[in-house]
Amino acid sequence: MPDEIDYRYIVHYKTYPRFNKISLINNLPDTPLGALLSNRRTRRVSSNKELSIKLLHPLLAMATGRTGKNDGEEDFRAYPSAGARYPLELYLFSFTVKDMDSGIYHFSPLDNSLEILWEGDLKLIIKNLFNEENKEEVQHEFLENMKAFVAITAIEERTTFKYGAAGKKFPLIEAGYLGANITIMLEEAGYNPVILGTQWCSKELGDILDINPEKESVISSIAIL
Ligand SMILES: Cc1cc2nc3c(=O)[nH]c(=O)nc-3n(C[C@H](O)[C@H](O)[C@H](O)COP(=O)(O)O)c2cc1C
Repeated sequence: MPDEIDYRYIVHYKTYPRFNKISLINNLPDTPLGALLSNRRTRRVSSNKELSIKLLHPLLAMATGRTGKNDGEEDFRAYPSAGARYPLELYLFSFTVKDMDSGIYHFSPLDNSLEILWEGDLKLIIKNLFNEENKEEVQHEFLENMKAFVAITAIEERTTFKYGAAGKKFPLIEAGYLGANITIMLEEAGYNPVILGTQWCSKELGDILDINPEKESVISSIAIL
């Protein structure tokens, strides 16, 4: 019986002390992306930088848009997807975005447009969802400084149609890749993206988006500060 590990307080690293190893000799390569990754941190404060639709809209299009076709003339997208099934949908809530009304928008990859689903400011409601529904001690008062909020949903059937139950985790994995595209580009542009787990408020967010809970669910989100 292996010793019990207490995962609560320390970050654990697996090692193989009884085997030989190759030590890293060179310095890490000095590339712009490498520099961005080594400086990346979740910064829960305002970037104090104006966010405009002129930057945000193309950034979302680059992160999630259509980028080519396979031999069968089916689309490829900017993020990788198991079997190129692309089960994810992207919604944008704008609060203080220059030249953009507050509201809920759906990104449509067909023409890279933002479809206007609803107009109005939901910042307080979103902020409260992450505070009130939060069963952990972490509080999200910093969401007061959100300029925008991105919700990523999954339509699981697009993937399970091909892979059956074995494919159920693929949309979750893909949301990580899509989220990385979005957050790294936001970091590069000088903003503070904060990934927010939606485990406590997925249903409420789904209700706000008016999506069919039997088909589509919110699986990840990003606050842009
Ligand atoms: C799946 C996932 C969910 C997260 N959920 C939250 C969250 O709800 N609230 C929050 O403040 N940070 C959240 N984070 C950010 C993590 O707390 C953060 O990445 C972690 O503390 C490591 O710090 P770093 O990103 O600065 O390296 C989340 C990150 C991931 C990947």
